[in-house]
Amino acid sequence: MKLLITGGAGFLGARLARTLLARGHLNGREITHMVLTDIAPPPPDLLSDTRVSARTGPLLVHTDALREEPFDGVFHLASAVSGECEADFDLGLRSNVDSTRALLDALRANVNAGGQAARVVFSSSVAVFGPDPAVPLPAIVADDTLPAPQTSYGMHKLVCEHLVADYTRKGYIDGRAARLMTVTVRPGRPNGAASSFFSGIIREPLAGAVSMCPVSDDVSHPVSSPTRTVDGLITVYEASREAFVGRTALNLPALNVRVADMLDALGQVAGIKVRERVRFARDERIAGIVANWPGGASALRASKLGLKPHANFAEIIRQYIDDCAAAPNADQTLKGMS
Ligand SMILES: NC(=O)c1ccc[n+]([C@@H]2O[C@H](COP(=O)([O-])OP(=O)(O)OC[C@H]3O[C@@H](n4cnc5c(N)ncnc54)[C@H](O)[C@@H]3O)[C@@H](O)[C@H]2O)c1
Repeated sequence: MKLLITGGAGFLGARLARTLLARGHLNGREITHMVLTDIAPPPPDLLSDTRVSARTGPLLVHTDALREEPFDGVFHLASAVSGECEADFDLGLRSNVDSTRALLDALRANVNAGGQAARVVFSSSVAVFGPDPAVPLPAIVADDTLPAPQTSYGMHKLVCEHLVADYTRKGYIDGRAARLMTVTVRPGRPNGAASSFFSGIIREPLAGAVSMCPVSDDVSHPVSSPTRTVDGLITVYEASREAFVGRTALNLPALNVRVADMLDALGQVAGIKVRERVRFARDERIAGIVANWPGGASALRASKLGLKPHANFAEIIRQYIDDCAAAPNADQTLKGMS
């Protein structure tokens, strides 16, 4: 089978690609060809796999060519992140909404030419939820909580969920949308997402650096590990249309955790010296954005597909440490533990 992963050079896209290539199959079919498309080139380890080819550049540049190229499956992960979308309104719309519509139209052109509808998983976000004066935000957002995004990024994700649903209703794709929780611990450098500190307060102290937490320690948030998130995307792909139940989006499982619990877990796993590298310095801009986010999420529909959240945050930290220990730069990423 031939797969397309958009955003295939990104944090989750590259991880998803590695997981699928190691597995070798999806839905019982052998993965023979995988196309990774992204503004950035994919990491060398992925490019060295003979099944992988890359289309580098903005997705909108490639969608015309994709009209001629049938795919069995698509994971659509390419996206400008929340901070970027707030900073540049047009870039956000172009990267997220215009690119998604052009991608779906390319897949539709294949169906109109007599091909099979591709199965499509769209990576949506818990950012579709927000407080609206007319619809108060519950403490825990469920699959059926009314989305009321309060950011451009959240709005893009909700628009794309509906596009995916409508192209599915028309038979142009077999689409499904999974709402990702905040994925932590994200390796590497901080990114433009307002949620970046949820990883920073674990990653930086483990690497021996001080990390500033911009919100108070009683802030609660739904998080998930990279591994569980990738497993969630694959499970959502493999679910039958009937098991998926309907054409609307589902929440991926979340561990609902307070900053204080995250830091307690850090102390428990890595020791008190590491924990003490986290300091608090309130950042009104970030605290204001975070105040509009749900404190937790439930995922009943995902649990019916067999997906579960981590039992506790210590498990997530241990997974990050194991990942770092297996990577070539472990002496840097885990410097603070020695
Ligand atoms: N990581 C999280 O916590 C989280 C939470 C909720 C949803 N998501 C969603 O999951 C997906 C993957 O997230 P991630 O953490 O890997 O982000 P990421 O920023 O690491 O990866 C996204 C990739 O998309 C690419 N991209 C952006 N605009 C593009 C365009 N116009 N054309 C082609 N490529 C483009 C970027 O270059 C990047 O490599 C995204 O859709 C994101 O919105 C992530």
